[in-house]
Amino acid sequence: MSHNMIRLEKAAHLRGEMTVPGDKSISHRAVMFGSLAEGVTEVSNFLQGADCLSTIDCFRKLGIEIENTPERILIHGRGLHGLRVPGSVLDVGNSGTTTRLISGILAAQPFETTLTGDASIQKRPMRRIIEPLSLMGADISSVNGNDCAPLRICGRKLHGIHYRSKIASAQVKSAILLAGLYADGPTAVTEPALSRNHTEIMLNYFGACVTSEGTTASVKPDPALHGQKVVVPGDISSAAFFIAAGLIVPGAELLIRNVGINPTRDGILRVAEAMGGNITYLNVRHDGEPTADLLVKHSALHGVTVEGDIIPTLIDELPIINIMAAYAEGTTVIRNAEELRAKESNRIDVMSEYLSAMGCDITPTQDGMVIVGGRPLHGTVVDPHMDHRIAMSFAIAALAAEGVTQITDGGIVTVSYPDFYEELGRLTR
Ligand code: S3P
Repeated sequence: MSHNMIRLEKAAHLRGEMTVPGDKSISHRAVMFGSLAEGVTEVSNFLQGADCLSTIDCFRKLGIEIENTPERILIHGRGLHGLRVPGSVLDVGNSGTTTRLISGILAAQPFETTLTGDASIQKRPMRRIIEPLSLMGADISSVNGNDCAPLRICGRKLHGIHYRSKIASAQVKSAILLAGLYADGPTAVTEPALSRNHTEIMLNYFGACVTSEGTTASVKPDPALHGQKVVVPGDISSAAFFIAAGLIVPGAELLIRNVGINPTRDGILRVAEAMGGNITYLNVRHDGEPTADLLVKHSALHGVTVEGDIIPTLIDELPIINIMAAYAEGTTVIRNAEELRAKESNRIDVMSEYLSAMGCDITPTQDGMVIVGGRPLHGTVVDPHMDHRIAMSFAIAALAAEGVTQITDGGIVTVSYPDFYEELGRLTR
């Protein structure tokens, strides 16, 4: 990972057409499910970000042949029971999705594995998967006894359970559903609010039997999974940075093509519109995962309250929503988002620290923040704390701030958006 310092200034101009890279959540799942399917899976518009490359690396170590070319990924799946003993520890890098989803699969394999990752991943909570997987009969433990990675996983025969999760988390839900593929009976997960449902959609596409009712998802064990063609939509979580830029930079107009708008992910669009954002959906398509082209125009934004069931649908977008709120008139209140403390960084504390440093009136709370918007902001030096979305959020904040904003370790954006600064440079030139 590069540790380059990135320097940004106010944008005089923001205009043009763009696409964003493939969806990170969907790219991870395509590699995992393709590995567990019989035959070849072909993935196009795969996200070549560091996190998804970590998933490829892990499955290669588990004996899966994966060809990675710029046009497509070919995964030579070996079926549900075809993984092989890895010759070394599996390194998940910075990726929480890789860690938690692969744990559900490894919990059922007839061998032992150790998972580790970078300094950020070694601080992230894993009790949330250790508990349900243990209830299913798995032997999974934190090597350092702190409920974080490294994790040691010894495969076992698993039992189906109905797990009632205290948090709305697609990673927890997916880990349990994947373990459920190997269980001795049906497995169900109920969450307090519906989290992203890409696992449910894609597992069915590969031939599994997953049903959803309200906030409960259930899976039947031992399906025959077959290789498929997967076309990954553009990542709305990456588009979010340019949506915000289009709304806050005076005179801006951006057309962002081929963005995934799955209703379990589109909270950013609903909040941006509630703030007064001018966003037009064009060319809406429903092909497995719904997509649209989004036309975004500079708008006078006003503060809103963001709370309740919408939170899981925009959980990764709250940092950039903070930036929009800082440039909006009036007060924005964010509640029920304590999960922000468990992301790549503690996003409540880190956003509050650097937005304050830019001159914004922001007060952190236990489960969110209160932002009184409309004050002029000025540049500062931001340490993104190994968090790609913190780096990109402040790069966008810089476009409407006075003076220079510097991001130390700006290269962390390669986790989800390798060409982020190049794209921003092209559109502001
Ligand atoms: C993801 C789920 C979310 C999200 C993460 C990707 C996924 O995490 O924040 O970026 O692909 O399942 P949680 O399940 O921890 O909320």
